Amino acid sequence: MMVDRPDEQGIHQWLDADQFPEHLKKYWFQRHKIWQKYHEGVWMTEDAWFGVTPEPIANKIATHIAESAPKDKTIIIDAFAGVGGNAIAFARSGRWDQVFAVEKDPKTMKCAKHNAEIYDVAKKIVFHTGDCFDIIKRFMGKNNIVIFGSPPWGGTEYNADNVFDLSLMQPYNLDALYKKFSKLSKHIVLYLPRNSDLNQIARYAPESKKVEVAHYCIFGASKALCVYFGDFDFEGEAEEQEGDVTASLEGPLVKR
Ligand SMILES: C[S@@+](CC[C@H](N)C(=O)[O-])C[C@H]1O[C@@H](n2cnc3c(N)ncnc32)[C@H](O)[C@@H]1O
Repeated sequence: MMVDRPDEQGIHQWLDADQFPEHLKKYWFQRHKIWQKYHEGVWMTEDAWFGVTPEPIANKIATHIAESAPKDKTIIIDAFAGVGGNAIAFARSGRWDQVFAVEKDPKTMKCAKHNAEIYDVAKKIVFHTGDCFDIIKRFMGKNNIVIFGSPPWGGTEYNADNVFDLSLMQPYNLDALYKKFSKLSKHIVLYLPRNSDLNQIARYAPESKKVEVAHYCIFGASKALCVYFGDFDFEGEAEEQEGDVTASLEGPLVKR
């Protein structure tokens, strides 16, 4: 058990249901699914509960990227690292020479660093506090990078029954993300709402190339999808079940 308690307002180590904010209660019941080492003293902000990638999904995504990325890609940048859900999984996969975690909010970043210690991978991650679009400029000229991004999904009414219009995603829409990230790497993985408009995504498939989409389900419900831009080579089953997670490949999208 990591006993070090956060000593800054806005950073929490909720170990007791009584102190947990009422409006987040549903996350209290899922806390050990979201973080399997939650009881070891994970730090969170209130906002982080809405965006953190649950550990089993983060692990599945990390495996997918590790297995499908071209072997000459040895660096992964998690551009929106949050409290560390994905960056920790990338570091634990052991696939990467370097894992960079970029997060612009300093309190959220403190949580990510602490959580990486709990998972014993803090030394395997290089943390950068700041704007990912500035920080990735430092990597220009390298051709061994995969960029992963789980951006905020705000902006458009989130309703599973509607198609999510990625042009209205705030503060960065699909077009902005793709244009900025593709200046550094053609290998980009984006974690997006499960009901994202696949036609919009298909428009970014380079000529005669495909874009893979994988859906990730947990707690029996589809949580999100990942879009794989670039030469990711998926060889596995179209649908895989592992513990609580089901991953299914949508099949390649081709530019129309
Ligand atoms: C959906 S959350 C990421 C969650 C993360 N995958 C996890 O498992 O914890 C998005 C994060 O992006 C951060 N963010 C937003 N704009 C950013 C920017 N320009 N550069 C870096 N981080 C940014 C937010 O502060 C927020 O923590």
